[in-house]
Amino acid sequence: TAPLRDLAAARGIRIGTALAADHLTGTPAAVAAREFDAVTPENEMKWERVEPERGHYDWAAADAVVAFAQAHGMQVRGHNLVWHSQLPQWLTTGDFTAGELRALMLRHVTDEVTHFRGRVAAWDVVNEPFADDGTHRAGLWYRQLGVSYIADAFTAAHAADPAAKLWLNDYTIEGPGPKSEAMYALAKALKQQGVPIDGVGFQAHFALGRVPAGFRATMQRFADLGLDVAVTELDVRMPTPPDGDSLRQQAADYDAVLRACLGVTRCRGLTVWGFSDATSWVPGAFPGQGAATPYDAHYRPKPAYRAMAAALATR
Ligand code: G3I
Repeated sequence: TAPLRDLAAARGIRIGTALAADHLTGTPAAVAAREFDAVTPENEMKWERVEPERGHYDWAAADAVVAFAQAHGMQVRGHNLVWHSQLPQWLTTGDFTAGELRALMLRHVTDEVTHFRGRVAAWDVVNEPFADDGTHRAGLWYRQLGVSYIADAFTAAHAADPAAKLWLNDYTIEGPGPKSEAMYALAKALKQQGVPIDGVGFQAHFALGRVPAGFRATMQRFADLGLDVAVTELDVRMPTPPDGDSLRQQAADYDAVLRACLGVTRCRGLTVWGFSDATSWVPGAFPGQGAATPYDAHYRPKPAYRAMAAALATR
């Protein structure tokens, strides 16, 4: 059957995967290049990776993922610029004033976007700004700079690459609830203030059978603000080992997410957070769970893969 990327192109969306720099050869690379037309570097663009020592950039791993994507006609989603996690130790343990932190953040955004200018189509500019109750996450940036860090990051990114699309990105915003409301209010306010924001990414890290029924409607509501939307980090975890029933339910979940995106004109694509159970982050973060991706640990397509192909092929 046709690769997912060909089926997706015929529907006007991109189908992407997270990809790590140590999976650019052999079977993982072959499957990634054949099936997907978008790539999100899984960790390689995060601040702790690109500036492990203050003032010393190391772009090698991120450049390798970008070069792989370019060689295979895959669009790159930059992940990410401003986040509370995976920050370099010199930054989190340094004794900086608010003014110094703001300058460091702006310089980081400017330098990273400039480095990849013309090679990264879209950036997750601010990642995971909210806590589950819908309050601003009390990470380094919000605690030290207040809410202004968000607009400032977008403005700096836009100045560094006016052609790049700039996104907010978060999880547990896919259905109704306080976190989704908070994201909606933020996106609306940024648009009203003329901040250069292009889209909102829905990470979609789901547990088996827990795709919110209102996912399509939620994405449509954000799109109605004049923003693009996308599914940016889809996976569906389950207790391991999987069995026939759980794999069938997972296929139904992947189908539901893909159809939600296909049902929203401004949904630009769907990215899975790793395509093989061999490399997924899930077992490391949720002991006893895994099997969250569309390929098993031997790179054989699972029912979830066939569900995506079928959803793309049927109108
Ligand atoms: O590379 C080191 C290795 O040298 C070391 O021996 C090992 C020991 O723990 O750690 C390795 O680094 C790990 C890294 O993944 C690479 O595998 C880190 O500990 C681990 O924390 C890191 O996890 C990443 C996680 O973000 C960090 O928050 C996952 O790979 C990555 O998939 C995950 O991705 C996030 C998105 O960026 C944002 N949304 C949620 C998503 C899932 O958590």
